[in-house]
Amino acid sequence: MDVRADVISRLTRTGDRGVLRFITCGSVDDGKSTLIGRLLYDSKLIFEDQLSTLEKDSRKHGTTGEEIDFALLLDGLEAERQQGITIDVAYRFFSTDKRKFVVADTPGHEQYTRNMATGASTADLAIILVDARKGVLVQTLRHSYIAHMMGIRHVVLAINKMDLAGHSRARFHEIVSNYLAKVENLGFETITPIPMSARYGDNVTSRSEAMDWHDGPTLLELLEDIDTETDARSGPFRFPVQWVNRPNLDFRGFSGTIVSGTVQPGDEIVVASSGQKARVARIVTADGDLEEASAGEAVTLVLDAEIDIIRGDMLTGTQDRPEVASQFAAEVLWMHEDAMHPGRSYLLKAGGQVTPVSVTELKYGVDVNTYEHIPAKELGMNGIGQCNLSTSRAIAFDPYHEIRDTGSFILIDRYTNQTVGAGMIRFALRRATNIHTHQMDVDKTRRAGLKAQKPAVLWFTGLSGAGKSTIANIVERRLAEAGHHTYSLDGDNVRHGLNRDLGFTEGDRVENIRRIGEVARLFVDAGLIVTCSFISPFRAERQMVRELVEEDEFIEVFVDAPIEVCMQRDPKGLYKKAKAGEIKNFTGFDSPYEAPETPELHVETATISAEEAADRIIALLRRSGRLG
Ligand code: ADX
Repeated sequence: MDVRADVISRLTRTGDRGVLRFITCGSVDDGKSTLIGRLLYDSKLIFEDQLSTLEKDSRKHGTTGEEIDFALLLDGLEAERQQGITIDVAYRFFSTDKRKFVVADTPGHEQYTRNMATGASTADLAIILVDARKGVLVQTLRHSYIAHMMGIRHVVLAINKMDLAGHSRARFHEIVSNYLAKVENLGFETITPIPMSARYGDNVTSRSEAMDWHDGPTLLELLEDIDTETDARSGPFRFPVQWVNRPNLDFRGFSGTIVSGTVQPGDEIVVASSGQKARVARIVTADGDLEEASAGEAVTLVLDAEIDIIRGDMLTGTQDRPEVASQFAAEVLWMHEDAMHPGRSYLLKAGGQVTPVSVTELKYGVDVNTYEHIPAKELGMNGIGQCNLSTSRAIAFDPYHEIRDTGSFILIDRYTNQTVGAGMIRFALRRATNIHTHQMDVDKTRRAGLKAQKPAVLWFTGLSGAGKSTIANIVERRLAEAGHHTYSLDGDNVRHGLNRDLGFTEGDRVENIRRIGEVARLFVDAGLIVTCSFISPFRAERQMVRELVEEDEFIEVFVDAPIEVCMQRDPKGLYKKAKAGEIKNFTGFDSPYEAPETPELHVETATISAEEAADRIIALLRRSGRLG
């Protein structure tokens, strides 16, 4: 049989211990590539064509003389030889007679935290490599933290290059006790230290004669035997609906992959978010109906009753139901250059569920090298923080450490659509779920009716000196003269009271607008026409305020003037100060302004007067029927 076919047959054979997924953490210098190469080589699963290239390359580039350089094997597989480092997550498959394996290999460099997190998120076990000469390093602790954060419960502490440390038992124990003391609080279920010399194969696949004092397993023995207890089939039933399959009126099925548990026809299921129940009538697959399906299988479920289910819903068993909440605590790993700011609105995607979300509190950042909690106002690239989040709609989930597939989410930028963060849900915040909106007898419509107007937020945005406050002032005066009820919120004024604790960093500006948005919403609820004049430089926050009120209640007015004109006007002398470097983060100077793309009104104050601009705004209010 050719090698390829043999590999495939071994990988797909059933009846063994099941697949073990593990990740290797360490830097090139620790001998990581050599270790993986050795595992693959000794389990005789290297493809023949790769073997011959390897022998050739070892002689050409190798650092090991005539012996095969296993590090080259991996580098060769990834065609990254020239760079001398591995730069991304690579998955490799191999098997022995006892078990199949999937190895995620990620680089150890600090800026690759997200790569390691990606690899670790599907792994049951982490091999953490330490160079016997160097002992426990900062990166050893970083790898351990990320493994822990991503829900890995089993660690192999692979103390490598023992040949260069005289195969010293004392040195081995010294490193082990040092490591155990440092990672004590991470709560790993098992930590198995193994002294090895990957280059010579010692304690990797065969016992080391030079280290006969080691009475634990070899690496391969451990990998073959360890029980990682991640049998997802025995967990509670979880089935995120990927799509509703309705080819014709006679068939309605729900398609997706079971991520936990087992299901049979006749089982009662419940839609997590609505609580509606039905029984499973059929389990349909391309190869016919099944009598049972479990975690990992892609199926279409047909129910015995017509209940409302849409894509993104989660079907679960009636026992051990998931949490359904819109406020929860999570660990967030930030993956983008533009920092995460509490208060800013992102999209959260968990399974098929997508909803706007904001971080209501960044409790602290975590230094992955020391495990210290660090005060943080934002999370930069590769930053990790404990956060409270609030979603617009409740989502169904399980704590990440119980079921990873239903406990993780990604965060997406609402404008660029890029993935900017990943999160692991820890628990629902109960305190927020007990608060219900109290229905008042006098409501917004009644309050507004008494004032013979429809409430609105007139949101003036633009550079300092563009004329926001001037125009807002005229608009309010005219409305008042016509007998309307108004209120005006203005940057400088609000910053003397409600927001006196905020400055002009990006994070503070996000919070500034968030609070003002909430206040504006209350005024709208009071039936008022409220003018808001704030630079409000970021689209995300203006959008957030827009979403706080009803669709026709938010009127964005872009008060536009070229920065040169604003500088010339310089009503408060601030541009002069900014130029002189006396003020930091000044919008238009060293802090950005994101112009509105589709404002309800765009007024260019370099060409029209403030009176004229006000006329247009009043005309717009009148046209849209807001003035009674
Ligand atoms: S916002 O960016 O958070 O929306 P806001 O409109 O509340 O700003 O406040 C802007 C006002 O604060 C400006 O009109 C100006 O008077 C004053 N100010 C002081 N420092 C700055 C700064 N660094 N950038 C912008 N405005 C500043």
